[in-house]
Amino acid sequence: MTQPAILVTRAIFPHVLEQLKEHFTVESNQEDVIWSPVELAQRLQGKAGAFMTGTERVNAELLAQCPGLKLCANMTVGYNNFDLPAMTAAGVLGTNAPDVLTETTADFGFALLMATARRVTESEHFLRAGKWTRWSYDMFAGAEVHGSTLGILGMGRIGQAIARRAALGFGMPVIYHNRSRLDAGMEASINARYVSKEELLQTADHLMLVLPYSASSHHTIGAAELALMKPTATLINLARGGIVDDAALAEALRERRIAAAGLDVFEGEPTVNPALLTVANVVLTPHIASATVGTRKAMAALAVDNLIGYLVHGKPVTPLNPEVLAPAES
Ligand code: DGY
Repeated sequence: MTQPAILVTRAIFPHVLEQLKEHFTVESNQEDVIWSPVELAQRLQGKAGAFMTGTERVNAELLAQCPGLKLCANMTVGYNNFDLPAMTAAGVLGTNAPDVLTETTADFGFALLMATARRVTESEHFLRAGKWTRWSYDMFAGAEVHGSTLGILGMGRIGQAIARRAALGFGMPVIYHNRSRLDAGMEASINARYVSKEELLQTADHLMLVLPYSASSHHTIGAAELALMKPTATLINLARGGIVDDAALAEALRERRIAAAGLDVFEGEPTVNPALLTVANVVLTPHIASATVGTRKAMAALAVDNLIGYLVHGKPVTPLNPEVLAPAES
């Protein structure tokens, strides 16, 4: 029997390619070339599936050019690269990689919070520049983390894992806002109190953003929201670029209207708003919240399981638009 053909759109662990080759005819991109939409459409010709990394746009225009495509499997939990209604209309399944990165991403939330509140990178730059000549009482004095109030905007799996760390490890009261409120048992188990978005902004000493990006979450944090925050507050964006208005944030940071920010994601990344690069009170990392070797392997493994599950056995593991599956398969 001929194996289905698939495209692996970006470089990936070699063992992942080997595993895929046991089931599929594989075209890969270990040179990690960033393909234009035209080239992506060309490479997808004759392919039943694609292993994707969350950076490739799958929209109606692309789908119209790829009639044989059945599955786009992201190795990321985020799937804002997918136009899901267009995929459903074209009968193309989308899958993502939830759960496997939750704890690692929550760890990184704290890494970024600690680095931001305690001014770790700012003080390291100072040291490396040879400016450290003596100890002084207020040198890089930052904000307290333990015991301070953590606000979480977006309370999915990652938000809940952050809340548990905050309460158990750092003795932080946790408040949150989310589209839907958790049930009372879950709130009690993670020790988090539901508040309005306004109260969250006004009360949090540290605000962590972990909500998914969509047209409705675009610029959830802009000038008006930043103006509600405490001047001593820190803002951490672990979620997606576009949730924060980066230009408004750079201005708020420069004017010290909030104390500091830690950003792992950016509007238009990998390009970073140049204004953010010129302010000292911001910690910037290149979208690495899930980047441990073990977690990246687990994320890739779940995308592989989805490809094999759907294209070989008709049963995907984590379908995003199960309505495209035949009734017996959903
Ligand atoms: C995800 O899985 O969505 C992370 O942001 C990595 O891209």
